[in-house]
Amino acid sequence: MEIDINALPPAEQYKLLSSTVVPRPIALVTTISDQFGDNAAPYSFFNCMGEDPPVMVLGLDTKRHGQVLKDTTVNIRDNGQFVIHLVDEPMAEAMNICAIDFPSNISEVEQAGLTLTASRLVRPKRIVEAPIAFECEKIAMIQIGPTRNIAIGKVVRMHVRDGLLDPVTNYINPELYRPVGRMFGKLYTRTRDHFEMVVPSFEDWEREHMK
Ligand SMILES: Cc1cc2nc3c(=O)[nH]c(=O)nc-3n(C[C@H](O)[C@H](O)[C@H](O)COP(=O)(O)O)c2cc1C
Repeated sequence: MEIDINALPPAEQYKLLSSTVVPRPIALVTTISDQFGDNAAPYSFFNCMGEDPPVMVLGLDTKRHGQVLKDTTVNIRDNGQFVIHLVDEPMAEAMNICAIDFPSNISEVEQAGLTLTASRLVRPKRIVEAPIAFECEKIAMIQIGPTRNIAIGKVVRMHVRDGLLDPVTNYINPELYRPVGRMFGKLYTRTRDHFEMVVPSFEDWEREHMK
C-alpha cells in the first residue's frame, strides 16, 4: 500500500505519523510567561538531535486549527528558555494532567501536584519529581507550516535524579530509569523490555558470512 500523504487532510496525516513513529519519548516542558507565570505541557514530537552542542527539538502544534499558539510556543518564542523533563512511570499521570487545556493563568504544575524549584541557568523552573531535566536555551524557532513550529534548543544544564547515573560508565542505569513512551492517542508504553545487539566488525562479518 502506498499513501500520498500530502494529499490527506492534516488530521489524517497526523494519525499516520503519530501511530508509526513510535514509541516517542515525552518531554514535559516548563516555560515562563511574564504575564501568566509558570507553564508546563507534554510534547512527544520531541527528541535529542545530537551532542556538542547537546541539542533538543520540539514539534509545536497550534490550538483551535491554527488560530492560537500554544503557551509553550509563545513562551519559548518570547523568552528563549525552556526546561525539558523526561517522563517516567511515577510521573505519567501528572504529565497527563499537564496536557489539559487550562486557561493560561492556571498553573498545570500546581493542578498536577508537581513541585517546582529554581533552575540553575534559565528562568523557567524545573520539576523536582522528574528523573531527568534539561535546562535549554533556544537556538531557533522555525515555522514549518501554518500550524507548526519547531523549537531547537541547546542544553545548558542537566539534572539527574540521585542514584540513576552509573558514575563509572556515565550511562543511566536502565533497570532504575523507567521512561514511558507515547504510542498514539491515549496509548502509552513502558520501556522495561530490553535486549542487546552488538554491531559486528566488518572483519568478523567477512570471516563468518562472506567468501
Ligand atoms: C503525551 C502527550 C504528548 C503531546 N505531544 C504534543 C506535541 O508533540 N505537540 C503538540 O503541539 N502538542 C502535544 N500534546 C498536546 C499538548 O500537551 C497540549 O495541547 C497542551 O495543552 C499544550 O499546553 P500549552 O498551551 O501550555 O503549551 C501532547 C499531549 C500529550 C498528553
